[in-house]
Amino acid sequence: MFTVAVLPGDGIGPEVIDVAVHVLETVTARIDYIRIPVGLESIRKYGRALTEENLEICKSADAILFGAAGEKESHPKDSLGVLRKKLDLYANLRPIHFFSEELCRIKEVKTFDILLVRELSSGIYFASREKLKDSASDLMSYTKKEIERVAHAAFREAEKRKKRVTSVDKENVLACSQLWRETVAEVAASYSVELSHMLVDACAMKLLQSPHEFDVVLTANLFGDILSDEASLLTGSLGLLPSASYNYEKGHALFEPVHGSALDLKKGQANPLGAVLSGAMMLEYFGLVQEKDKIYKAVSSVLTKGYHTADLRGVPEKQVTTQKMGNLIIRELQ
Ligand code: IPM
Ligand code: MN
Repeated sequence: MFTVAVLPGDGIGPEVIDVAVHVLETVTARIDYIRIPVGLESIRKYGRALTEENLEICKSADAILFGAAGEKESHPKDSLGVLRKKLDLYANLRPIHFFSEELCRIKEVKTFDILLVRELSSGIYFASREKLKDSASDLMSYTKKEIERVAHAAFREAEKRKKRVTSVDKENVLACSQLWRETVAEVAASYSVELSHMLVDACAMKLLQSPHEFDVVLTANLFGDILSDEASLLTGSLGLLPSASYNYEKGHALFEPVHGSALDLKKGQANPLGAVLSGAMMLEYFGLVQEKDKIYKAVSSVLTKGYHTADLRGVPEKQVTTQKMGNLIIRELQ
């Protein structure tokens, strides 16, 4: 049995995680789920967004399934940020999957298959910051070790794919990016993978112009955050993107949809597929590859039939709620 800590969190988190767990239960009975309050729910119960005790449960679980963070006094940095930092989840894998031309928001894009690897436990997100009345600062810093380990992760992934890594930085301006570029080049020497470097502004354009030219995209924390939202237009919606965050050495893994708590959405409007596919990535991590494939096929098939949540393109007659989408996936799986 695998033990999974389930953290639904804020906003649409509980709704989409509920669907994801139902879908997982349909394909495997090999998981024990421990539900853990995080975000606003935890603040109301315990006075903080994630308690020490619950953090320990997350640490000892085989994996974490996370919904979303961010609502009222619940700031993402107090829950999701704590998990990313305390579990040292440095490699964030965000597959940008092609489902269909109908769902893709960019004209003339035929097909693509991108894996974005985002550094997740350092960079400007976690460095010292100061907010004064008339000035503010955030320090971006990277150590060579931090760059090396995420670069290794990206090259290992590339070896399983088309063996190409595009490392994205802002080397013409930032010192961090200069260190990034030279370090990634050193790591590349021990892999038979083709490495190219691209500036982040150029990459933002190229991603939409010729997505088929990319295989693995490796980048720093902030750039990866921005580029993954952009790349979601290729798939069709932010609501469709899953992610996995790893610390391979410590054996920690967290799976979460790329979207946030989306407080503007009414009940039933959220797309649960980002969470469902995150669950599928978790199954692959557990070695349950056939089960993972089944979920991907079911999602693909339901989308191909034209069913969609409010965030996706499609005819009004086939627009469904969060729960209905879950039921369609489960029916497809049975
Ligand atoms: C993401 C999210 C988070 C991030 C937020 C919620 C802090 O946007 O995972 O992409 O910026 O990393
Ligand atoms: Mn983001």
